[in-house]
Amino acid sequence: VRDATADYATYSNEYGHLLRAGENSDPQVQDVLAGGWPLVDAFQSDPPRHSVYRKLVNSAFTLPSVKALQSRIDDRVNELVSGLASRRSCDFVEQFSIPLPVAVIADVLSMNDLPIGTVKRWSDAFMGLLLGGIVSRERRLQCARDIVECQHHVMSMIRDRRNGADGGDLISSIVRSADLENGAIDDTELLGIIQALMVAGNETTTSTLTEGMLLLIRRPDLQQVLRNQPEKMSVFVEELLRFASAAAGLPRVTKREVTVNGFVIPQNSLVHLRWAAANRDPSQYSDPDSFDLNRTNARTHLGFGRGVHTCVGNMLARAELTAAYSAILTQLDGFEVTDEDALRITPNIFARGLSRLPISYRGR
Ligand code: HEM
Repeated sequence: VRDATADYATYSNEYGHLLRAGENSDPQVQDVLAGGWPLVDAFQSDPPRHSVYRKLVNSAFTLPSVKALQSRIDDRVNELVSGLASRRSCDFVEQFSIPLPVAVIADVLSMNDLPIGTVKRWSDAFMGLLLGGIVSRERRLQCARDIVECQHHVMSMIRDRRNGADGGDLISSIVRSADLENGAIDDTELLGIIQALMVAGNETTTSTLTEGMLLLIRRPDLQQVLRNQPEKMSVFVEELLRFASAAAGLPRVTKREVTVNGFVIPQNSLVHLRWAAANRDPSQYSDPDSFDLNRTNARTHLGFGRGVHTCVGNMLARAELTAAYSAILTQLDGFEVTDEDALRITPNIFARGLSRLPISYRGR
């Protein structure tokens, strides 16, 4: 998997059109989408185009930029943990893991004047259409309507900034940097970039947050260690990213025939880089199925991918996970799963995560 990420000339990231085959063949969905702008798969692209897009967004997600966001992240976390503390039980997914990343990305993208539910609905719509073939036709139509609604909102933000309104925000900085490229990046592409930022980090962060919470419930010894030695939180988060691998695998298309371990893969094949499998490779990680806080190479995981497509939001996600577990362990205790039968993994080839986590707890 690691070698494939390094060889983007062979393993191309231009697979977006293949995933949307279902949507493309449905004229009614197309009619709805015609009310918006063409869907640009900004990050499902290869260098050199991909490098231009990355340049536009990279600076917004560096460690110093994320540090500048820390107090916003802490505020969002504390609001949600206070919400949990005001009751004795909840569905952790609904009350915490879903709203946190949506609220944070809404802050980053200046969408925080909208209800969180709207941003989540838009984000889910892009995921729904991506999975075209395996969601119902009704759902696909609804996704198309939500996408068009989202596109109109984002396009008006882009045009405001183009017309001189400087929000001092990420959208302004992306638009300004795009202007420097002398018209080489059009508004539809900017739309594609902002859409991707809105969608890419939600489900993945939600699933990782949930998996980590379940792990802490199953392993009270880990709660103990993290309360007594908060400096261990960063290794907990890295091992969690390896262990949970919420982005289970993502596709590539082979640009030439290639032989892997004796298997011939023809040109133009859709292959999957299974981050989750690589993260449990026994030749890299001893006893890979166990969660080990003392693992010395936890940071080498491929949970955020590798190479030119390495996760843009990796620092942001790490900051959210760290802030979340620190606040939860400080303010709450006595966690229990209240309905084991509710623990089901949502069927999805790209992302792995629990759809519900009903828990009870008490304040500390
Ligand atoms: C725990 C949470 C997250 C996980 C596990 C995760 C995982 C990944 C992985 C594995 C990739 C590589 C894709 C590939 O090579 O095909 C990726 C790319 C990406 N991620 Fe994340 N991600 C997370 C959070 C976020 C957040 C919070 C954002 C918000 C900015 C984000 C935005 C992106 C974008 C835009 C890409 C595409 C990068 C490119 O192709 O150049 N991710 N992510």
